[in-house]
Amino acid sequence: MSGTPQSVLHPAGTDAAIISRFAWVLFAAGAVIFAGVMALVLLSLRNNARPLRPGRWIAGAGVAFPVAALSALLAWSTWRSAQLVPQSSAAALSISVTARMWWWEVRYRDPDSGREIVTANEIHVPVGQSVYVGLNASDVIHSLWVPALSGKRDMIPGRVTGLTLRAERPGVYRGQCAEFCGAQHARMALHVVALAPEAFRDWLRRQAQPARVPTGALLERGRAAFLEQRCQTCHTIRGVAEAARLGPDLTHVGSRIQIGAGLLRTHKGTLADWIADPQALKPGVFMPAASGIDGESLRALAAYLEHLQ
Ligand code: CUA
Repeated sequence: MSGTPQSVLHPAGTDAAIISRFAWVLFAAGAVIFAGVMALVLLSLRNNARPLRPGRWIAGAGVAFPVAALSALLAWSTWRSAQLVPQSSAAALSISVTARMWWWEVRYRDPDSGREIVTANEIHVPVGQSVYVGLNASDVIHSLWVPALSGKRDMIPGRVTGLTLRAERPGVYRGQCAEFCGAQHARMALHVVALAPEAFRDWLRRQAQPARVPTGALLERGRAAFLEQRCQTCHTIRGVAEAARLGPDLTHVGSRIQIGAGLLRTHKGTLADWIADPQALKPGVFMPAASGIDGESLRALAAYLEHLQ
């Protein structure tokens, strides 16, 4: 699950395919026109060139050709744009994403209980279905861009916008914040995981569960360390401490591909590094270092978080 390239050239969604076609047509047309102009330049350098009739060239190449070419392009792009996925929250599945400095909070509605399921930095979607992603920001303007799936959409504090995603192939698609939002704008990535519909339902069912209960002394120690270090001031682990919303919900953090919004692969080693000194890995991030934690507690806490699948 290393993820497919974050690339507009490898579309895996309906909208991305249309956008990519636009890009190729414009590139090809530009190349043809460039080659034509270069040919004319070469022709003009010939010593025995016949004198031109400037009026004809201005009317033909300067007026008639651009008008015809641009009108054709306008007609074609208008027709193709009408085939983009409709931006409607009437789609079967609706997800809400809030951008924060510098991570993404993702909320689902559990179809069974109606309860809200909160996760972070990963959007799971069923393949072949339109998914409406409601977008919002809690601090400054951000922008959601998953190039393999669709165009960009700004996320503005106090305003709800939306984007309909539709993945045509299962896979992991990397996305990136596309609006400068501060020191760690570059390290504000996310993953869209497109799953077969049954796999998506299973995933949602697992996410709806409270956190796994620790088994064994090390994991018990880890859960105790979570509370001793007052991690619950910012982080929720459903079933352990549920009051805080400042940082990412950690109920199933071990199941996520990466931590730190696309910074490091989720593993007890990277979790320990992150907890010990987040400022070294992502300077300016709002999470303080767990100062004064002993090595054994740190290892136990990291192991506990990794086990929260
Ligand atoms: Cu968020 Cu750039």
